[in-house]
Amino acid sequence: MTHPSPPNGMAAHSDFSSSWLALRETADHRARDVQPLSTACRHWLTSRAHQGPLTLLDLGCGSGNNLRYLAPRLPPHQHWSLIDQDASLLAHVGGDGSPRHDHIDELTCLQRDLSRLDQALTGDMLAGADIVTASALLDLVSEPWLATLIKQCASHQCAVWLAMSINGDNALIDHDDGNTALLEMDRHVQQLIKAHQQRDKGFNGALGTHAPGVARTLLENAGYQATTADAPWQLDCRHPEEALLAQALVQGWLDAALEQAPDQRKALMQWHESRQQHIAHGRLKVRVGHTDLLAIPDSPGMT
Ligand SMILES: C[S@@+](CC[C@H](N)C(=O)[O-])C[C@H]1O[C@@H](n2cnc3c(N)ncnc32)[C@H](O)[C@@H]1O
Repeated sequence: MTHPSPPNGMAAHSDFSSSWLALRETADHRARDVQPLSTACRHWLTSRAHQGPLTLLDLGCGSGNNLRYLAPRLPPHQHWSLIDQDASLLAHVGGDGSPRHDHIDELTCLQRDLSRLDQALTGDMLAGADIVTASALLDLVSEPWLATLIKQCASHQCAVWLAMSINGDNALIDHDDGNTALLEMDRHVQQLIKAHQQRDKGFNGALGTHAPGVARTLLENAGYQATTADAPWQLDCRHPEEALLAQALVQGWLDAALEQAPDQRKALMQWHESRQQHIAHGRLKVRVGHTDLLAIPDSPGMT
């Protein structure tokens, strides 16, 4: 298997493969509990008597997962701008022959490095955006980067929708979990992964699992009203598609743990071998905690 580069096992400069992103898309869409967030968003759009197209900016869009999720759930006449540094992922947006959702009037893909926000978000991109969104990006960025983004969004009164941010609420649930040494090793691996997630991913520091909490605080301090929803992956390895994602995930966890603790190679390999077997035999359930956050500018006239 080529390295899937999941968020938990990513090299310093990301090279997320389209196969990994495709694998996670179904799990993402199943995990996201859109109701409270889309209701708050629609209410906001109505309350400000929004006219003209709905303009959205998707940061770190990958192959378009977030667009495919949100477009059908938001009002029509949408203008999307999608930004990613990886041209090969951008090439998948709206590709593969899948019809573009009829809520979308305009779609623009831009290859840009978001680590330099001032250079990536040029002209009136933020001034013209109703909603700035990102999915599975926040763990990669640093607090100063996020603070700058939020400050700019606040000055333009954009809503901010940050989806699928890992929150560290992970678990491996064995149907037959009498093996306490293995459970102890699961916990140890999770600690190594959490430390790895805070290694720099090209944004001069990485928030890792602190991202949802930090984002909420920064947004509220900037005058936003935040609504959050849990969006955990719940992978049941009796289902082949979920087992495939779990396999790739556990492989990514091994890679990250080995980078974090190379001296523990033997124990980590044994742990990995056991867990991959449990996945292959459909004995494991895997939970990966994520948080979705929608922040609405607290502007006059809002109820
Ligand atoms: C975990 S993927 C998420 C992709 C997509 N949002 C999704 O939900 O499937 C993170 C994305 O961030 C992009 N990315 C990482 N660092 C970046 C940077 N400095 N500039 C632009 N994009 C970046 C990666 O190329 C990748 O597509």
